Amino acid sequence: MNHETIADPRTIAEALRDGNLAQALYDEGAVIMEDVLLTLHGDAHRKRRLLEFGVFRRNFFKHYETEIFVPTLEQSIAGDLAAGRAELVDLSYRVTMNLTADFAGIDRPEGTREETLNLLHLVETFSQGATLIHSTRDKDEVRGEVRAALERFDPLFLAPSVARRRALLAEVEAGIRPEEDLPRDVLTVILRSGDPEEFTPDMLRREVAFYLQAGAHSTANSTVHAFHDLTEWGRAHPVDKARMRSDPIFLQRCVHESLRLHPASPVSMRKAICPHALANGHRMEEGDLVSLDLYRANRDPAIFGADADSFNPHRTIPVGQNPFGFTFGIGTHSCLGRDLDGGVVPKADADPETHQYGIVTRLVRRLMSEGARPDPDDPATEAAHTARPNWGRYPVIFDPAEAWT
Ligand code: HEM
Repeated sequence: MNHETIADPRTIAEALRDGNLAQALYDEGAVIMEDVLLTLHGDAHRKRRLLEFGVFRRNFFKHYETEIFVPTLEQSIAGDLAAGRAELVDLSYRVTMNLTADFAGIDRPEGTREETLNLLHLVETFSQGATLIHSTRDKDEVRGEVRAALERFDPLFLAPSVARRRALLAEVEAGIRPEEDLPRDVLTVILRSGDPEEFTPDMLRREVAFYLQAGAHSTANSTVHAFHDLTEWGRAHPVDKARMRSDPIFLQRCVHESLRLHPASPVSMRKAICPHALANGHRMEEGDLVSLDLYRANRDPAIFGADADSFNPHRTIPVGQNPFGFTFGIGTHSCLGRDLDGGVVPKADADPETHQYGIVTRLVRRLMSEGARPDPDDPATEAAHTARPNWGRYPVIFDPAEAWT
């Protein structure tokens, strides 16, 4: 079996749209990833994606950003604001864990920090299972931990969330409750319209667990990277620092630049389902693998300029290119959370009042508005437990002198 790595953006773009290439990054993590949306192929994938896309029906983003994001953020950040300081990795995980759980359809009836941390701990274990391919630990030991975490997840979180939704659905069907009362989440969509033969109890559990870990880590890490990049740029460029405050569309542009530099999944992997040639001429036999180096492609000087490796929100983005490069993937498995997290790429006439900025921009903006800045007495450190270049701890203080009041 051959395994080639590609960093050429054109070949990557075609590979991500190519129906002869199937998802391959999660084969080792089948304990949690078997037959979830991200690993399905062909018709089965199309059918599932169409079903789950149903979450984004009418007004979804407005509903999510105002009715879910704002209260969730305020509840999660209140204690940190009162203390005058926060550890940004911890805070971002708590906020995004709650947001992702709302999107997936997992209730947290107690609404406490402990409950969030309990869920987060389970999701961390799921995530270790999903990324088994990169694990340096004994893989069977990790699989055992994932199975145990799934067992705990069921009675604590999944079963009560399923029961509440089934009861609501029954009332809507009986005409004693309006449609609008239904939660807008993946679990509700599956319970309402999913094929019961496809969604066995184990499959349902894996699908919901997949959503929890797909959204939480990527959003949290991207938020901390963005906060750091914007703070550093603002320190060296006071005019832009002022503009981040007065021009939220510019702030979003800065966040997109950070997303380009730090793709949460630096590599995608595909396997050929039949003999096949990639756009660069590389020939693959059935079963051959190809790694798509999104990190390097996002820094390609031919697209993003000679300074592609550095943060520069004023760079020219060629027409037809995403400002965040391949960070959310493209094609068959492109990220369903893209607009939720990254917002919409603004057109020249975008109205700042109604523009959809995305969760990462909104979170960073909220932090900046409270005068958040790195704690000079407790410098940030990089994450030690992963080969991925993420922040491990990022202490900030909320400086009233810097707040936007
Ligand atoms: C900054 C945050 C995020 C980043 C960088 C990101 C990145 C990605 C990437 C690169 C893929 C494609 C993987 C591949 O082609 O192999 C993907 C797929 C996916 N993402 Fe995200 N993601 C983010 C947030 C989210 C959120 C918040 C959600 C859920 C609410 C989500 C749900 C999904 C789903 C469901 C897929 C699979 C789509 C499919 O297979 O059809 N993501 N994401």
